[in-house]
This record gives sequence, structure tokens and C-alpha cells, in this order.
Amino acid sequence: MKNNESILVLDFGGQYSQLIARRIRDLHVFCEIKSCRTPAAQVAASGYRGIVFSGGPETVTDENAPKCDPGVFQLGIPILGICYGAQLMAYELGGTVKSAKAREYGKTEVCFHTDSELFQGLKQQSVCWMSHTVSIAHVPDGFQITAESGSCPCAAMENPEKRLYATQFHPEVEHTLLGNEILKNFLYRVCGCSGSWKMESFINSAVSHIRETVGDKKVICALSGGVDSSVAAVLVHRAVGKNLTCIFVDHGLLRKDEGDEVENVFRKQFDINLVRVNAQERFLSKLAGVTDPERKRKIIGEEFIRVFEEEARKIGKVDYLCQGTIYPDVIESGKGDAAVIKSHHNVGGLPKDIGFTGLVEPLRDLFKDEVRKVGTQLGIPENLVWRQPFPGPGLAIRIIGDITLEKLNILKDADAIFRDEISKAGLRRKISQYFAVLTNIRSVGVMGDDRTYDYTVALRGVTTSDFMTADWARIPADVLARVSDRIINEVRHVNRVVYDITSKPPATIEWE
Ligand code: XMP
Repeated sequence: MKNNESILVLDFGGQYSQLIARRIRDLHVFCEIKSCRTPAAQVAASGYRGIVFSGGPETVTDENAPKCDPGVFQLGIPILGICYGAQLMAYELGGTVKSAKAREYGKTEVCFHTDSELFQGLKQQSVCWMSHTVSIAHVPDGFQITAESGSCPCAAMENPEKRLYATQFHPEVEHTLLGNEILKNFLYRVCGCSGSWKMESFINSAVSHIRETVGDKKVICALSGGVDSSVAAVLVHRAVGKNLTCIFVDHGLLRKDEGDEVENVFRKQFDINLVRVNAQERFLSKLAGVTDPERKRKIIGEEFIRVFEEEARKIGKVDYLCQGTIYPDVIESGKGDAAVIKSHHNVGGLPKDIGFTGLVEPLRDLFKDEVRKVGTQLGIPENLVWRQPFPGPGLAIRIIGDITLEKLNILKDADAIFRDEISKAGLRRKISQYFAVLTNIRSVGVMGDDRTYDYTVALRGVTTSDFMTADWARIPADVLARVSDRIINEVRHVNRVVYDITSKPPATIEWE
């Protein structure tokens, strides 16, 4: 992403690389992350104001330890090495490192030399977060030590002439109390950034970048109604206007009224070329009698691609495909061999061989909450911007067993009531994901004087930050009671409502 004032984080595999980027953007300087192996020439060509070397799990002296292109040190661009990045700087420039017997981990009192640019204006001593076994034994020629702790004589070093700085501790984590001040000093004092970057600047530079890339060619976008693809589409629309066509494959497994809401926003509010394909019958007939969750996913994924291809062909030659890929997706797809519990990313994994010359992915560097900020700035309605995550296969994996139109309608109604009550109780943003599930269980009930034999609806609500683990949400009993009453009274063929009190693991968030 081109920007007048941007910082590059070179990623050495540390768990905090994303956080570094995040903190820098929070300080109003644009920042992106690239592999530590990015060639120096490429770094130079992008005109970064500064570079941060992230931490990493390896030991710099190991043969296979990740290194940067040595040319990066010669570019004259300020560098801040953090933890592994600091050790690498020391080692590559002629200093030495040593392995301590024990790992230094946790909060540590560090004394700063406040005449260093990096520590200007700081208190002389403060708590910093350390997590390392290797440390810098001798600094390279031209460097001096600028901070120390009881067990780490070189907690920071610098060569101000060459504008090279390094900290053994992690300024990006919140346990480092003055971390933000240190990053600010690096950005504003050392790199000379003005801190003028805002989401609005992101939008402007993204729009001009898209224009440069796409020119007057045609772009197509698969719209799901989710936050990421919606924000990407509106951004691309701002750049190329009517040269963008959005294809919204409505598989009929969306939540109640959701298809119409998406259509309204895109067609009416933004005047975007939108092709809505009402394909419910097609999907339901493919799914008839299918009970296995993975089969359902596969069928929906394949059918989705087929419908999309058919529509794309009708449009004629299309040069670019716009996708709402965000930073966590980029990271996720780089990770490998975990067991497949559920094949999540089957929908939206569009084929690359239907004749596009390129991809447009304007949100690749952003985190979810940043995407939401962009969406809000672009004027996308709040309920879409704050939409909770919704699985690609939609309600198909919330109807246990085979799917029929009747079951789908029961679930849509029950789920809408649950969402409505959560919203009225002001809990919408407090619960990460909440939905109804139509279990395949029917049980005996009594309504009026009559026996009923009807479905059980399960309610699920979870709190989580990463969706990898989750706790069940402690929704107040009176809210649950209202939801239950309303579902029983308003939705035919449901006579029992239960609340799922299992965390993940051992359960998963979705039931299928
Ligand atoms: P689980 O059920 O695996 O869900 O704990 C974690 C998150 O992933 C979503 N999910 C899916 N998303 N396609 C998707 O796009 C899928 O097949 C799928 N299955 C689960 C789920 O809603 C939750 O946010």
C-alpha cells in the first residue's frame, strides 16, 4: 500500500508482529508487514520512513535462523530491532550474543538512558516485558548500550549515526508501560513521521492505488453480505465506479431478511452494479437429504463457485477479482498442518482460473476492527459494519441433519427473535457470536390442552477474541426467558428451547 509515510515491519515469525503494526497505526502512521526475506531493493523502492524487525522464535546463531537481506542495513532507513530483531542486528553487524541459562520472561524493571532519542522524555526506570533466552553480549562497533535491567546488561542499544536502534524487551505489548512512548519516539523523532495518517488517509491511498492498478478495466466482486467483502466492494466502487460489478449469490441460507438488506445497501445506497442471484431452490435441491456437515459444506462451496462462474461469464471479459481478504486471513493461509476439524474456507475460495489477470485485495493489511473503521468512514450502515461473523455455508450448518425449506424458515424466525432480544438488551457487541440452531430432536410438549411433538431450538452465544477458543456467554436469565417465550409463542413447530453451555474446546462454536 503506497503511503507517504509508512513503516515496514519485517516479520521474523514473532507472535507480536501484527501487534507491532497495529500499535504503529494506532499512533497514526501507516504500517505494513512483510516477510523478513524481502529484498533490500524492494524495501528501498517502497520509500518506507522506518523499519521494525519483529521478534521471532529462533536463535540468531542457528544455521537456519531467519535473516534479513544484509542490504537492508545499508539503506539508511532507521531500523528498530525488537527482541530477536535486536539480537539479529547485533549479530549481523559484528556484535555477539549469548544464551542465558534460564529464559528471562515477564515484567522487568529497566533503566533507560534518557539522552537516547528512543527514550527521550521517559522516566528513567519503568517496567518492560521481556521474553528471551538469548541476549546481546557485546554490541557491534559504533553502538552503545542505552538501557539495562538487573539480568540483562544490554536491554537496548543504538547507533544513532546510522539510525539503528534495538530493544531486548517488547515495546509493543501493554505490559511495557512506556512502550507507546518508545514507539512514538521511534516514529516521530527518529523516523521523522508526522503522525498524520488516519483511516481517511487509508481510504484515499487505497482508492488511488486501486485506480492505478485497475485503470479502466473491469472488476468483479463476490459479495457475501459479510463485513470484509462489503467494505472491499464499497472501496473498489469508490475507485472504479461502474466498472465494478458485484455478484451476490444468495444461496437462501442467510439469516432472515439478510439478502434484501444487502441488496438495499449496495443497489440503493451506493448505486453499485449488483447482480443478485436468487439461488435458494438450486441450493436446497442439491442439499436435499444430505446430513453430513462436511458434505453440506462441500456442496455449498462447489455450487457457489458454479453459480458465480455462470454469472461472471454473462458479464463478459473481466480483468480483476476483488476479494475482502484481511490480514488474519493472510496469516491463516500461511499456516499449515493443523487437523481439519471443519473445512471453513470453502465458500469464497473462488477459482483463479476464470480469466482474471489480477486480484484486488484492498484490505490485506488490516485487522477486523480497522476494517470496521474503514466501513464506517465509507458510510456503510452500522448493522452491516458490526455484523457478527457468519459462516459461508450459512444456516445449512445450523440445521442439524437434513435441510428442508420448512426447517429453514423455522430457524430463520427463531434466530431473528434471538437477535432482536439480544439487541434490545444492549448485548450485541458484548457477545462475539450468537445464533439459534435447529436441532434434529423433537420432543413431547403440552400447549393449551394438547400434546405437541415438535422441534427443539438450541441457542448458542459465545465470547471470544479469536474464535479459536471460546467461552459460552453468560446471557442474563431474564433475556433468555424472553427469547424462549417468544420463540415458543411466535414460531410454529418449536416446543422447547435450550441454551448451550459448552465452551470451545471441547465443543466448537457451530454445531456442525
Ligand atoms: P467453529 O464452529 O469451528 O467456528 O468453532 C469458528 C468460527 O468459524 C465460523 N465457521 C465457518 N465460517 N465457513 C465459514 O466461512 C464454515 O464452514 C464455517 N464453519 C464455522 C464460525 O461461525 C465461527 O465464527
